[in-house]
Amino acid sequence: MRYLTFALGKGRLAKTTLELFEKIGITCEEMKDKDSRKLIFVNEELKLKFFLSKGPDVPTYVEYGAADIGIVGKDTIVEEGRKLFEVMDLGFGKCKMCVCGPESAKELLKHNQLIRVATKYPNIAKDYFYNKKNQTVEIIKLNGSIELAPIVGLSEVIVDIVETGSTLRENGLQVLEEICPLSARMVVNQVSMRMENERISKLINDLRRVME
Ligand code: PRP
Repeated sequence: MRYLTFALGKGRLAKTTLELFEKIGITCEEMKDKDSRKLIFVNEELKLKFFLSKGPDVPTYVEYGAADIGIVGKDTIVEEGRKLFEVMDLGFGKCKMCVCGPESAKELLKHNQLIRVATKYPNIAKDYFYNKKNQTVEIIKLNGSIELAPIVGLSEVIVDIVETGSTLRENGLQVLEEICPLSARMVVNQVSMRMENERISKLINDLRRVME
């Protein structure tokens, strides 16, 4: 039997993913060692491999078949636009993609003004402003702490993930428009879906059962 390889996005989602997998009997003890610098982990009995990568790289590994299966946020799936099958909503990591800014920016969104939008998600921001709202904007790509941008005057608004809303509140910002709901998803390589259909279908069914 060949190995089925999982790519997990580092960080918030990885921990919950491993907890969910444990419930269906998939364990990877080695992976829990926080001090380890090891990149890939093997479960020999079940013939499974796991690796952690930066979230935005997960769809890349899955499209090219370096991983059969990926666990990643819907935000990353949409932003990266890779060829893969999204097979399951895992129901955790729930949050929303939103346009946020100070209250004063509300007017700028209403009147189709040329504004600057800072974001880690330029493709999602472009699609929203150009295709859904028909508003011409300047998109500025950042890599984190996006909420800083309107505070220091880099942009009028941001497009970012809002979970509890506390980052916004603590920085005097608010949700101005909601773009779409997000959560963790399972994605599968298109060839693996055919070649390993039996094992992958069983995995999905097992997960469905414990999620109920
Ligand atoms: C995310 C997101 C917001 C925050 C939202 O950032 O970009 O900043 O979490 O969560 P909240 O609504 O519960 O406050 P993350 O902490 O992942 O790091 P980043 O700023 O480096 O992107």
